Order: sequence, then structure tokens, then C-alpha cells
Amino acid sequence: MESCAFYDCVRKDARKLRPEVVVDVCGGHGALALLFLAHGQAQQATIIDPQRPASHATLREAWSSFVTGPISYDQRPLQQALPEVLKGNSKRMLVVACHACQHLAREIIDHCMAHNTAFAVCPCCPKDHQGHLQAAAKSLEVEFPAAMILAEMGRLTAQHCACALRSFDAKEGLQGNRQKWQQVSPHNRVIFGRPGAGPQEAAETGPIS
Ligand SMILES: C[S@@+](CC[C@H](N)C(=O)[O-])C[C@H]1O[C@@H](n2cnc3c(N)ncnc32)[C@H](O)[C@@H]1O
Repeated sequence: MESCAFYDCVRKDARKLRPEVVVDVCGGHGALALLFLAHGQAQQATIIDPQRPASHATLREAWSSFVTGPISYDQRPLQQALPEVLKGNSKRMLVVACHACQHLAREIIDHCMAHNTAFAVCPCCPKDHQGHLQAAAKSLEVEFPAAMILAEMGRLTAQHCACALRSFDAKEGLQGNRQKWQQVSPHNRVIFGRPGAGPQEAAETGPIS
């Protein structure tokens, strides 16, 4: 399952942060948040998604023997819920998002930047409405989704956010849906960011695993 592969590729970074709360934005079934609890990497979880699928309850039931800790499901759009969750909690937090569409991924990251909260975000469906980045990527013979990730990492670095690229195998998400995932998210790239990190923390956020 793709959430397991995502969890696996950020778990070492997460461990260094010792988050108390994990916030799974655009979480859908919420498996990613549940994995953090199951592995003892967080004690509390909040999932944010306006559409709570039936699979969330199914997963919680199936994993109930090893997933413990308070879990809340906030069914408001992230634009409303996330700033409130980040502002109202004094505990150490990590925000995660697996396959948030590019514009949502950017909003998630911007809220984390505004609240100095670490994040691990895997954007999907890259778009470049003006076409400049797409043209530059083509001219440089860089794959467009990779160029968009680099552009986002450049934007964050300019705002003093220590960020690193993590990735997991797209094959994990292909079962039964090969064509769709190849179109929207052929590579699963995760931007791991620590806003306002000092030199020590920035050094700990290794370049690539
Ligand atoms: C591609 S799914 C990813 C679900 C899950 N993270 C996964 O990896 O399977 C994108 C999710 O974003 C949610 N979403 C769309 N707009 C949103 C918004 N404004 N705020 C929060 N979630 C949103 C959708 O309901 C959907 O569940």
C-alpha cells in the first residue's frame, strides 16, 4: 500500500523531530496518520479531508489492536482546518500529505511555513499555467514534474526552510490503477521541510536518502 511506502521514506526524518502529533492533510482513508501511531512515531493524529471515505472506519477497525492514541477526523477543507489545527496546538507537530494536488500541496506548505511546522508533502498533478517552467524544463531536458519539485524547493529554501527530497517507488500505487497513476503521479516525490531550521537542524535534514 502506498501509505506504507510514504511512511517508510520519511520515517527517519520524522524520528529526529520526535513529533507528538501527526496531521494527515488530504488524508482520505487516513492510513498514513495511522501508521505514525502504529509505529509509535506520534501519540496523536488529526486527519483533514472534506470527504471521509468508508475505508477510514474499516482501517481503524482492522488496525485497532496496534493503533492507539486519540484520532480526530476534521471534515473541513484544509484552508479552514489546517491553520486552526496548527495555531491551537502547542505540541510538536508533523504535517504529512500524500498525493495532494499541486495547488493544495502549496497551500499546505504555506500554512506550515506560517506556523513554523515541519512537513512531508508529496504533490501530484503538477501544473504550470503560464507555461514558463514547462518551457524551461523542456529546453533543459528536465522532466516537468521534477522541475516543479525543484522550483518549489527553491522557493522554500529562499524562505529559510531546510528542505530535502525523499521519494518512494511509484509501483506501490499502481495496482489496479496503473494508467491513472502513470498520468498524474509517475514518481512519488516527497518534499520534507523544516521551516526556520537553524544550521544544526538543516545539517540533520540530509540532502537525500
Ligand atoms: C488523491 S486523494 C489522496 C488521498 C490519500 N492521501 C491517499 O494517499 O490515498 C486527494 C484527497 O484530497 C482531498 N481534498 C481535496 N480538496 C481538499 C481540501 N480543500 N482540503 C482537504 N482535502 C482535500 C480529497 O477529498 C481526496 O481525498
